[in-house]
Amino acid sequence: MTTYTTAWKSPSNIALVKYWGKKPEGIQIPSNSSISFTLKNCATTTKLTLVEQADLEITVLLEGNQEPGFVPKIEQFLHRISGVFPFVLNGKYTVDTSNSFPHSSGIASSASGMSALALCICDIAKEKGLLAEKDFKQTASILARLGSGSASRSIYGPMGQWGEHPDYRGSSDEFAIPYTDIHSVFTDFCDTILLVHRGQKTVSSTVGHGLLKDNPYATARFAQAQENMIAMKSILKSGDLDAFIALVESEALTLHSLMMSSNPYFILMKPNTLKIIEAIWAKREKDAVKWCFTLDAGANVHFLYPQADQAAAKAFIEEELAQYCENGAFIHDEVGMGAERL
Ligand code: DP6
Repeated sequence: MTTYTTAWKSPSNIALVKYWGKKPEGIQIPSNSSISFTLKNCATTTKLTLVEQADLEITVLLEGNQEPGFVPKIEQFLHRISGVFPFVLNGKYTVDTSNSFPHSSGIASSASGMSALALCICDIAKEKGLLAEKDFKQTASILARLGSGSASRSIYGPMGQWGEHPDYRGSSDEFAIPYTDIHSVFTDFCDTILLVHRGQKTVSSTVGHGLLKDNPYATARFAQAQENMIAMKSILKSGDLDAFIALVESEALTLHSLMMSSNPYFILMKPNTLKIIEAIWAKREKDAVKWCFTLDAGANVHFLYPQADQAAAKAFIEEELAQYCENGAFIHDEVGMGAERL
């Protein structure tokens, strides 16, 4: 009976071109390609202990306290990845996990959480002689994807790209790849997450993805996303911030318009989400700043701005945006270099 122990810290990420919709064939195959900034401060740290035994047994600790609510998701994950590593179904797991961001902040922990867990499993597979170092990150991204699609991109910094696209060499539906062909303005871009609503989301992303199946705009959306990936590629290279702003904000609003046009329909923005968007637009109009927003599948706003503007942008947050955040809460983050072994 061997015991394995390993630990990884893996970050969250924020998509610029969004993954929303899965192909009907395969498991966790995206309907379109996506690309994200890997974050630095918002991360999950997971320490995994696996004692080999015949049965599967899982204990989850969140911030030191037992969290049985997470067990079914991890069990499903282990079953999904058992096609890659059959050993994962025979063991007693202790998953000791904590997030750098407050629990129930509305920040999705699935990208950081699932990627951290996938990396831990890959460490064990490597120790068992089942995984070569040269395949380590790609396999970790495959496993992470099986846990949560967006998690596949968190393995790499400063950006992760996932989903086959003719213009992205080496891209795949099965795993993300690091994306580094970017202008220096983007390598340390800032993202302040404005916490508009800390409650549970009304719709999980998994359910949201499923609703695209019957959404009349889905086909047009998937084609649009593939086009936007082409435009994004040259924007990232040139550092054209005006084009960046136009594309990133359009992607965010398109994501939410897909939710609004699903059946059942839903609105994940809150009134203060719109207040923040309007305040950013007014500021841009008035001072010609190159600041913009994006959204994930929730009410919080990711406020994006260049590192060089940090002082002014932070003053703007304090003076104008913080009032729209629940309890005035926000988290400063920036582009980071991906997951690290502890
Ligand atoms: C809006 O990766 O959370 O954040 O694969 O079902 O776990 P599952 O979904 P998830 O979806 C993320 C959707 C998004 C956009 C994005 O990150 O690309």
